[in-house]
Amino acid sequence: MNIILLGPPGAGKGTQASRLVEERKMVQLSTGDMLRAAVAAGTEIGLQAKRVMEAGELVSDAIVDGILSERLDQEDIARGFILDGYPRTAVQAASLDRMLAEKGLHLDHVIELAVDEDALVDRISGRFSCAVCNTPYHDRYQLPKVEGVCDVCGSTEFKRRADDNEEAVRTRMAEYRAKTAPILPHYEAQGIVRRVDGMAPIGAVGQAIDDILG
Ligand code: AP5
Repeated sequence: MNIILLGPPGAGKGTQASRLVEERKMVQLSTGDMLRAAVAAGTEIGLQAKRVMEAGELVSDAIVDGILSERLDQEDIARGFILDGYPRTAVQAASLDRMLAEKGLHLDHVIELAVDEDALVDRISGRFSCAVCNTPYHDRYQLPKVEGVCDVCGSTEFKRRADDNEEAVRTRMAEYRAKTAPILPHYEAQGIVRRVDGMAPIGAVGQAIDDILG
C-alpha cells in the first residue's frame, strides 16, 4: 500500500504518518524531514535549503525530486510508503509519475486532509517533536503520556521548528494554495483521491484513514 498524504501545513500529515509507521510498519517519506536533516548536517543541499525553508517558501523542484528519487531506491519502501509533503508542485507530480513508472511502483490512494486554515496557526504554534525520533507532539492536543518523556523512544529531549512562526506559516499556507492544491485534479482524474476531515480529533482522523486503507 503506497499513499500520499496531502494537506496544508499543520493539517496533520506528519502526525498521521508517524502513527502509520508505528502501527502498520509503513515507511514515512517526508521531504521536510529529509531537508531538515540536510540542514542539520550542513550538506550542500542543506545550505541551499536553509534560508528558503525558514522563510516558508518551497525548495527547488530539482533538489527535492533528487532526494526523493534516491530515497525511493532503498529497499525498505517495499513495506509500503507514505509520501508526506511531496509532491508539492505540478512539476513534482509529473516527476513522481515518472519515478514510479521507472521503478515499477504505484500509488494506491491520495488522502487529502481537509482543514480550516484559521485553526492551523494555533496547531503549528503549539507543535514540538522528539529530538531523537521526530515523533510529533502538541502543547494542548497531543502531549507525551509521561510529561517530558517521548512515548516512542523514551528520549527527554524535544525541539521546535525554525519555520513554525506566524509569518513563515502564512507564507507556507500561501505556497500550498498557489502551488500544491492545484495538483489535486491530477490525482482526481486517476480516481484515487480520498478526502478526510482533518479538523476531527487526531484519533478520529486516524480511524478515517484506517477505514480507507482497510
Ligand atoms: P514540511 O516539513 O513538509 O512541513 P509542512 O507541509 O508545512 O507541514 P507540517 O509539517 O507543518 O504539517 P503537518 O501536516 O505534518 O502537521 P503535523 O502532523 O505536524 O515542509 C517544511 C518546508 O520544507 C517547506 O515549507 C519547504 O520549504 C520545504 N519542503 C518540504 N517538502 C518540499 C517539497 N516537496 N518541495 C519543496 N519544498 C519542500 O501537525 C501539526 C500540529 O498539530 C502537531 O503539533 C499535531 O500534534 C497537531 N495536530 C495534528 N492533527 C491534529 C488534529 N486532528 N487535531 C488537533 N491537533 C492536531
